[in-house]
Amino acid sequence: MQLLKDHILKDGIVKPGNILKVDSFLNHQMDITLINEIGKEFKRRFSDCPITKILTIEASGIGIACIAAQYFDVPVIFAKKAQSLNLDGEMYCSKVESFTHKKVYDVILSKKFLGPEDHVLLIDDFLANGCALMGLIEIVKESGAVLEGAGIVIEKGFQNGGQCIRDMGVRLESLAIIDSMTDDSLTFR
Ligand code: G4P
Ligand code: NA
Ligand code: NA
Repeated sequence: MQLLKDHILKDGIVKPGNILKVDSFLNHQMDITLINEIGKEFKRRFSDCPITKILTIEASGIGIACIAAQYFDVPVIFAKKAQSLNLDGEMYCSKVESFTHKKVYDVILSKKFLGPEDHVLLIDDFLANGCALMGLIEIVKESGAVLEGAGIVIEKGFQNGGQCIRDMGVRLESLAIIDSMTDDSLTFR
């Protein structure tokens, strides 16, 4: 998606540890004109799928999912991150290991909001090692819903998440895939 790539090239900042800061338009301040176009693009790419729910994970996926959902005319559900909890059987739960934050957390979603009748599109801002997305995929499996695919705004193609998820047979649509980045250069696939 050219408009997104232009924003990344103009305003993205590469930080040590292979982190791309996109705080000025996606992760802190949000450029709603851009995110609206992102929403339209997800709809265009998944227009053949009978989506009934968009599933994301807190926090930064939520805003993007909500704007995209207007084009699908479906509810957004977001999985919550929890440190440790008393599972009462009313929640789907999976474990996620964050490499960026060096910790393991539980991802939970109420069983009330997802079931076998649903067709799910996953949406998130970043795909790096894919742990967050794997956690969401596990929850969809547990629910019996049909996983139609995943829409990612920025995929870091030099980390292994995208490959793992595609190898699982999941339809993955990333709007920008970064193949390499340094302080002064960034290349897209
Ligand atoms: P993974 O889910 O792909 O395995 O990645 P990892 O656990 O390493 O990522 C942890 C968090 O860092 C995720 O957000 C992920 O979206 C984000 N992230 C990974 N690489 C980058 C990057 O290069 N730039 C930016 N800006 N973010 C990155 P989170 O902290 O779990 O969630 P949120 O609350 O920020 O949404
Ligand atoms: Na995220
Ligand atoms: Na994030």
